Amino acid sequence: MTVFFTCFAFVGLGVAAIKAPPVQERNLKVLPMDIPDQKLDSLMETYSQALGVKCSFCHTKVTGFPDSLDFRSDTEPMKENAREMIRMTIQINKTHFYFDKNTRPEYLHTVSCRTCHRGQPFPPEY
Ligand code: HEC
Ligand code: HEC
Repeated sequence: MTVFFTCFAFVGLGVAAIKAPPVQERNLKVLPMDIPDQKLDSLMETYSQALGVKCSFCHTKVTGFPDSLDFRSDTEPMKENAREMIRMTIQINKTHFYFDKNTRPEYLHTVSCRTCHRGQPFPPEY
């Protein structure tokens, strides 16, 4: 019995290795498609901290699994609002602070979310 199960497990692994589903393409409309995973993670962490929110502020909860988020999904309207803000921030940096031509404007943070938000999702008027 043990032998049978062991063999089965190996066959299963072999098939999984050959037929591994292709990595799903990212659903990015503002950030560059070739952004490294690590860079994406750290940017998302920066957004969350700057706004004082959790990932679920912009990302859709998976139905039936409230602890899981579907990061590719666009059904949470706040994600599109955030895209507009990311575009604006890139634009500000590119137009007014893009002195270092070796740095990609998407990654410049002279003006960042934090500059305005200071840990709040809706920055209050001064
Ligand atoms: C302020 C809103 C906001 C917050 C908070 C946020 N995200 Fe995002 N996230 C976005 C937006 C907007 C995009 C899509 C960017 C684009 O279109 O270029 C995105 C994209 C992603 C993607 C890429 C999904 C894909 O298409 O493959 C991942 C992964 C992700 N976020 C993870 C996280 C994690 C983890 C957190 C919490 C630490 C987080 N996000 C917090 C707005 C946010
Ligand atoms: C130049 C200042 C400024 C910068 C930079 C900025 N924001 Fe905002 N953001 C605001 C203001 C002001 C509001 C509130 C608008 C309102 O109350 O309607 C806001 C609102 C938001 C909202 C709430 C939805 C909405 O559209 O009202 C989100 C989400 C957001 N910002 C995300 C971001 C992210 C992510 C970044 C960085 C990529 C960023 N913001 C950078 C000023 C800024």
